[in-house]
Amino acid sequence: MTAAGAATAGAVGTAAGSGTPPDGAVTLRAGDLHASLADPLMSAMTFLNEVTLRYPDAISFAPGRPYEGLFDPDQVARDVSTYTGYLRDTLGMSPARVREALFQYGRTAGQIAGLVARTVANDEGLRVPAEAVVVTVGAQEGMLLAVRALLAGPRDVLLVSSPCYVGITGAARLLDVAVEPVPEGPAGPDPEAVAAAARRVRASGRRPRAFYVVPDFANPSGASMPVPERHRLLEVAAEQDLLVIEDNPYGFFGRDDAARPTLKSLDGDRRVVYLGSFAKTCFPGARVGYVLADQPVRWPDGTVTLLADELAKIKSMTTVNTPSLTQAAIGGLLLRNGCRLRPANAATTAFYRGNLERLLAGLDAAFPAADRLGVRWNSPGGGFFLVVAVPFAADAAALEVSAREHGVLWTPMQSFYLDGGGTRALRLSCSYVEPGQIEEGVRRLAGFLRAHTPPIPVGSTASPTPAGSR
Ligand SMILES: Cc1ncc(COP(=O)(O)O)c(C=O)c1O
Repeated sequence: MTAAGAATAGAVGTAAGSGTPPDGAVTLRAGDLHASLADPLMSAMTFLNEVTLRYPDAISFAPGRPYEGLFDPDQVARDVSTYTGYLRDTLGMSPARVREALFQYGRTAGQIAGLVARTVANDEGLRVPAEAVVVTVGAQEGMLLAVRALLAGPRDVLLVSSPCYVGITGAARLLDVAVEPVPEGPAGPDPEAVAAAARRVRASGRRPRAFYVVPDFANPSGASMPVPERHRLLEVAAEQDLLVIEDNPYGFFGRDDAARPTLKSLDGDRRVVYLGSFAKTCFPGARVGYVLADQPVRWPDGTVTLLADELAKIKSMTTVNTPSLTQAAIGGLLLRNGCRLRPANAATTAFYRGNLERLLAGLDAAFPAADRLGVRWNSPGGGFFLVVAVPFAADAAALEVSAREHGVLWTPMQSFYLDGGGTRALRLSCSYVEPGQIEEGVRRLAGFLRAHTPPIPVGSTASPTPAGSR
């Protein structure tokens, strides 16, 4: 069964008990629903959540969730209070206005846009006015808004670095937007491959409109773009008249302190639409993210607006506004930290660094050079993820065996490919495990891989090599 198949079967069982509709219920034909609902892509996230829930005792290298041990529930109320104090004391709002800010429908583009603009200036050197910020329900909503606004019609194509985060490909699928994967190399997307893909799309009579990329510690590959490639990608984007959608949820979590300039900070001509997320640098329960969209939009009557204004129009028809309460919690957290999330994340960064080092050391110990069974993995410069290439199909059925018989969870890489790739690879995430569980988790994983690996004929290499593998 495919990942999607497993998830769908679970959904039918839950919704209708046995899969048989109750007597008298209006039964809809799946074929009459939007075609995306039959696409395995749309079930990938749910499947991963479900498998984690079904095997609560397994050691999980599956989800890209942040570690919960550093969260303090009491802090949320204090942060909301810090925010309302700021509205009252710094912005001079009356009690009635503070009440309105917290309880009422709010400004579509968000009420903490100014604090977000200050934070990205401090942390990333990004200079954008508050008017160019749209506060969204996670980066996920930002993807939906950006794809809807920028990809105008059936000729427009979204290029994506492949393997690719399912949030963007899923959003495109939902909106009937065509996607063209651009295979990633060891150092992330190759700008020349992006140029070639853009030319190919144009030659087919369509318009390559934008390129989606996670330049730092990508999900799922862990790959990062070297700085010269970042510059070259922006040149290619200009040559090919492509917009760039930069998604940067993991940029703080390098294994070293090397500066990694965002594409947006290198972008001289406002070609980059930047998606930000507070899910990993604050907490995902808030569901707060943002888009920096400072591109001018000229209308036929000569009026000029910002792309952010246009994204806000779409947002007004999707989520109306990002909940005021969670904006207040994130706003207070930003204020508490002087609108500097990098230093505020020092302990979190150290935690993820430690976990990634432990995971890599565990793999080295479990698969010494002479005994790798055709198993290879990459060594990312940071972030949550790495990829292990294995000499068998790492699909939903294999995951089920791994969970049930070996007590260890991972993510099949095939969920991240649009073109049928990734069948013999799995993603490991180091973000959600207790440090003390990593060694045991890798031991279990090694047991599973050994049990699953067919004997390798002497002298042959059994598995493909993931990006940057050793
Ligand atoms: C590449 C990437 N972008 C965006 C997100 C999601 O961001 P948010 O939770 O803010 O919607 C994730 C979460 O896993 C991710 O891996």
